Amino acid sequence: MTLIHDFETLQKALAKQAGDGKTIALVPTMGALHAGHGSLISKAQEIADFVVVSIFVNPAQFGKNEDFSSYPRTLEADVKFASAQGADVIYAPDADDVYPEGFSTSVSAGKISTILCGKFRPGHFDGVATIVTKLLLRTMPHIAIFGIKDYQQLCVIERVTQDLDIPVEIVPVATMREDDGLALSSRNAYLSASERETAPFLYETLNNVAREIKYSGVSEALAKGTADLTAKGFKVDYLELCDATTLEPLQKPQEDARLLAAAWLGKTRLIDNIAI
Ligand code: PAF
Repeated sequence: MTLIHDFETLQKALAKQAGDGKTIALVPTMGALHAGHGSLISKAQEIADFVVVSIFVNPAQFGKNEDFSSYPRTLEADVKFASAQGADVIYAPDADDVYPEGFSTSVSAGKISTILCGKFRPGHFDGVATIVTKLLLRTMPHIAIFGIKDYQQLCVIERVTQDLDIPVEIVPVATMREDDGLALSSRNAYLSASERETAPFLYETLNNVAREIKYSGVSEALAKGTADLTAKGFKVDYLELCDATTLEPLQKPQEDARLLAAAWLGKTRLIDNIAI
């Protein structure tokens, strides 16, 4: 495994692999790697010959009052972890290399970036789309791997790569959960012990709402789910049934539908989603 910080070294390493006819997979991350990332890296290793894991805490996707400065930075442990999971290169660029003086371009997927989480985190998905586009252009992978846990992010990236004809296959990987159902996330580390006990109720509620929708209708089921979460101490940003591709809200269930939620427990914002 090689740890690379600069673009030129990365290009040389990847040109050699591409020249040898190897399939390259990119797993973009912000570090603080956990078993969820491990499953993305394992998938990459399974379907590609050469795996690049990028680690970059991207300032452009954090709002002014968000956790950019406190976001966990654990490069040494991440390098060990990613390498044990089968990464061939860890690419950890510096911020001034990614965003040099004068940088002013932004990639936006349009409406899909402004609904659901985009409504509560304005500019977030433009920040994600910009860095992912840049990482894809820097690595030119055949495959890029994203977790279904960040479902809206996955839809945004699919939109961007399709619209901009970026020649990459986006491969989604199922959400990894703790035994009690909580989706793995680097931000779970922010939860207090009692919040951690309550946190799996988000996933439980998604499952309850998915069942309830069939009996009592979409808006009633969503209202009950929101009330249940609130009663447990969550502050709900949204709980919505959406078209699985466009993320447009649905009033009736349909074949390709996704139930998505974002809710705060204390200072921690949790997101989760399930197919229905
Ligand atoms: O999901 C993440 O960790 C980030 O949003 C990503 C895709 C690495 C872009 O910074």
